[in-house]
Amino acid sequence: MAQPRRPSAGSILGSLAPIAVVIGGAAVAFAYTAGWFSPQRLTPDKLVDAFTPATGEPLGHRKNHAKGICFTGTFEANGAGSALSDAQVFTRGQFPVLGRFNLGTADPNAPDATVRVRGLGLRISTPDGQEWRSAMIDTPFFPVSTPQAFYQLLLASASKDPDAMKTFAAAHPEIAAFGAWADSAPWTGSYAEQRYNSLNSFVFTDGSGADHTVRWSLLPAVPPVAVSPDELAKRGPDFLEQEITERVRGGPLRFTMVVTAANPGDPTADPSKSWPEDRRAVEVGTLIVQQIEAERNGPCRDINFDPTVLPTGMRTSDDPFPAARSSAYAKSYDRRTAEASSYPRTATDTKP
Ligand code: HEM
Repeated sequence: MAQPRRPSAGSILGSLAPIAVVIGGAAVAFAYTAGWFSPQRLTPDKLVDAFTPATGEPLGHRKNHAKGICFTGTFEANGAGSALSDAQVFTRGQFPVLGRFNLGTADPNAPDATVRVRGLGLRISTPDGQEWRSAMIDTPFFPVSTPQAFYQLLLASASKDPDAMKTFAAAHPEIAAFGAWADSAPWTGSYAEQRYNSLNSFVFTDGSGADHTVRWSLLPAVPPVAVSPDELAKRGPDFLEQEITERVRGGPLRFTMVVTAANPGDPTADPSKSWPEDRRAVEVGTLIVQQIEAERNGPCRDINFDPTVLPTGMRTSDDPFPAARSSAYAKSYDRRTAEASSYPRTATDTKP
C-alpha cells in the first residue's frame, strides 16, 4: 500500500484557505447583519429596542403585544379556500389551533382601556406536518407604508421633542388615515367583537399553479357594541381577559375567516392602503375558540406567531413587512426566552 505523502506547509495553508474564507465571510455577514457597516440600516435589534416602554423593558415578555391571553381551538375549513391555495388547511376538515388575543402595547401591565389596537395571533396545524402562523390586528390598515417608516414612528412617539410627531406626519402623510380611524372607530368591551386583519399581503397558489395575491380577516360572529373608553376604564385594568374567559366558559366563540384576492394593480406592497370593497372575497372556514388557556406559563408562552411561517401553497409577496416582522419577532423571542428567569414574575409561579 502506498504511504500517504506528507503535506507541505503551503498545501496545509492552501487547504485551510476555504475554511478561512467561510469563517471570514460569516464574520462579515454577521457584521453586516448587525448593521456595523451602515449605522442607518434598520436591524432587528433597532426595531425591537424601539418598542421599549418608558417604564423599562419588561423582561421575559413579548417586546410588543406584551399583554394578552392564550386560547386553544379549531379551524373548521369548508373547502372553499382550495380555489385560492392548495394548502391542506383549506381542504374540508378540522385542524387544531393555538391562538392569543392581545393588545398592541409593549407594557404587559397597561390598563386595557388605554390600548387602541387589539390583535390576534394564530397557528393552525395540519396533518401534513405544516403550520400556518399569522398575527392580525383590528385596524383596517397599517399606520405607515414601510418597516422603515414604522421604526421612525416608534422613535417619534417616544421622543421628548414636542414636534416629533408633527415632523413625522409631514414626512409620512399616510398616518393621517390611521389617526382618523383611531379617533373615530368605536371601542368595544370584548376581544370577541373585533375583526382581525392580516393587512400584509401574501401569495396563495392554487392546485392549477395559478397565483393569487391575498389578505385575510377574521370576522366576529358576535356583533360589536360600542362602549366609550371612559366606561371601559371602569371595568378594571384587565377587563378584556376576564370578559373573554367568562364568555368562552359559556360556550365556543366563532370567527369567519375571509380571504380577499387583489386585482391587478392593487397596492400589494403597502399595508397602509386598503383594497376596494368589491374584490373577490372567499369565506374559507370558521375559527372556533374552545378554551382560554393560562397566559403566563401556558402554551402560548414559547411560540412566536411569525407571519412568514406558511404552509406549501402560500408564500410572502412583494409586501416588505412580513420579512421585517419575522426578523423582529425572532429577536423578541430570543430575548424573552433568554430572560425566562424573570418570567414568571411572581414567586408562586413555576415554569413547566
Ligand atoms: C415592521 C413592523 C412590525 C414590527 C417591527 C412588529 C414587531 C412585533 C414584535 C417584536 C412582536 C412580539 C413577537 C414575539 O415576541 O413573539 C409582535 C407581536 C405582534 N404583532 Fe407585530 N410588528 C410589526 C407589524 C405588525 C403588523 C403589520 C401586524 C398585523 C397586521 C402585527 C401584529 C402583531 C400581533 C397580533 C402580535 C402578537 C402576536 C402574539 O400574540 O404573539 N405586527 N410584533
